[in-house]
Amino acid sequence: METADKAALMGPAPRGWKTWTTKKKLIMLGSILAVIIALGVGLGVGLGVGLGGGGGGGGDDEGGGSETPPPTSGNYTTAKWQPAVGTSWQIVLEYALNDTSVNATVYDIDLFNNNQSVIDELHDAGRKVICYFSAGSYENWRPDKDKFDSDDLGKNLDGWPGEKWINISSPRIHAIMLNRLDLAKNKSCDGVDPDNVDGYDNSNGLSLTETDSINYMNWMANEAHARNMSIGLKNAGAIIGSVINNMQWSVNEQCAEYEECDTYAVFTEKNKPVFHIEYPKGDSTNNDDSVTTSQKSSACNFTDSGNFSTVIKNMDLDNWIETC
Ligand SMILES: *[C@@H]1O[C@H](CO)[C@@H](O)[C@H](O)[C@H]1NC(C)=O
Ligand SMILES: *[C@@H]1O[C@H](CO)[C@@H](O)[C@H](O)[C@H]1NC(C)=O
Ligand SMILES: *[C@@H]1O[C@H](CO)[C@@H](O)[C@H](O)[C@H]1NC(C)=O
Ligand SMILES: *[C@@H]1O[C@H](CO)[C@@H](O)[C@H](O)[C@H]1NC(C)=O
Ligand SMILES: *[C@@H]1O[C@H](CO)[C@@H](O)[C@H](O)[C@H]1NC(C)=O
Ligand SMILES: *[C@@H]1O[C@H](CO)[C@@H](O)[C@H](O)[C@H]1NC(C)=O
Ligand SMILES: *[C@@H]1O[C@H](CO)[C@@H](O)[C@H](O)[C@H]1NC(C)=O
Ligand SMILES: *[C@@H]1O[C@H](CO)[C@@H](O)[C@H](O)[C@H]1NC(C)=O
Ligand SMILES: *[C@@H]1O[C@H](CO)[C@@H](O)[C@H](O)[C@H]1NC(C)=O
Repeated sequence: METADKAALMGPAPRGWKTWTTKKKLIMLGSILAVIIALGVGLGVGLGVGLGGGGGGGGDDEGGGSETPPPTSGNYTTAKWQPAVGTSWQIVLEYALNDTSVNATVYDIDLFNNNQSVIDELHDAGRKVICYFSAGSYENWRPDKDKFDSDDLGKNLDGWPGEKWINISSPRIHAIMLNRLDLAKNKSCDGVDPDNVDGYDNSNGLSLTETDSINYMNWMANEAHARNMSIGLKNAGAIIGSVINNMQWSVNEQCAEYEECDTYAVFTEKNKPVFHIEYPKGDSTNNDDSVTTSQKSSACNFTDSGNFSTVIKNMDLDNWIETC
């Protein structure tokens, strides 16, 4: 147990970013192709083939880019806690939270590494707590790792030892995630931050599609809400339109660096915050030094930046933070 706990605390840093540079290139390429295809298709359709009834929106599209048409109806539920646009936040995932002194309304911390005592302490200080877990990957150091069935495991996550993509449509995975939601509720988390829900955008070995992610996030939102917790969408820009009604916020990494913050501004336009992280120091520098003026300006100054909840962090998501 001791070693398991230690392993839990020392496991690979939480994720989302190392695969991103390559991923970003694919997305850009995908978007360009999507536009070309859309133009071609539009032209073809316009030229005559006729109506066919506006087509149901092709839910399982390629990893394109930007817009999945919002469904006209859905099983949406509401959350009691809807944080306001511009809500301040801090995120620490590298280790159990040991610095509660940052003056932020919301703390996003690891579900497993933190005990209820620190959550209670944050609540006593008037803060809200979002509990992070990976919803789209298996991590070989988590306390519930033995519950995963090998049939549900896909490829390794590039750059993240011990992590594999999982079949987010599998009932066995759903059962594990319901347990994690129960744990979050038991620890009195106000909300959850399920990560790695953009498997469709990565080489995952399970043929995951955007539709899989849409169904998974809408399902998980209903389950979180049923437990009186809120939930947000992590990255996954391509599926925003199909899940936003069920989400209370976005958690985004590096939209300023990749010039795609306008994709996420849809949230602030619907009065939902974008909890936004930039990593100006890059992949491998984690220290307590301030960023330069120009790094800060790149992280903080973009279209719509006034409504984003931006934090500047080290890539390992330790305690260090700067705000705009
Ligand atoms: C549900 O969550 C809201 C908002 O966080 C809180 O005020 C309320 O007390 C919670 N209700 C229950 C039954 O826990
Ligand atoms: C918090 O914990 C980490 C990991 O154990 C440690 O390196 C760091 O110094 C601690 N920080 C504080 C403020 O206690
Ligand atoms: C903490 O932030 C709030 C607003 O976000 C502000 O009203 C308050 O004065 C700040 N407290 C300290 C100690 O800086
Ligand atoms: C959480 O609680 C357990 C059991 O009381 C304890 O062994 C562990 O050290 C605690 N972890 C942290 C990060 O405080
Ligand atoms: C994922 O799970 C679903 C539901 O059980 C199943 O239909 C599908 O075949 C699984 N995918 C893979 C790649 O095993
Ligand atoms: C949550 O608490 C309930 C009631 O104490 C308990 O039955 C259940 O096993 C707990 N679930 C988890 C995942 O901790
Ligand atoms: C909506 O989702 C909740 C939680 O997953 C489920 O209990 C409920 O049956 C669903 N309602 C409908 C109409 O599908
Ligand atoms: C933000 O960027 C705009 C356009 O590049 C520039 O005009 C403005 O001075 C910048 N503001 C800050 C505070 O850097
Ligand atoms: C913030 O959002 C409000 C309401 O949607 C809008 O009126 C305002 O222009 C936005 N501010 C910035 C800086 O984008």
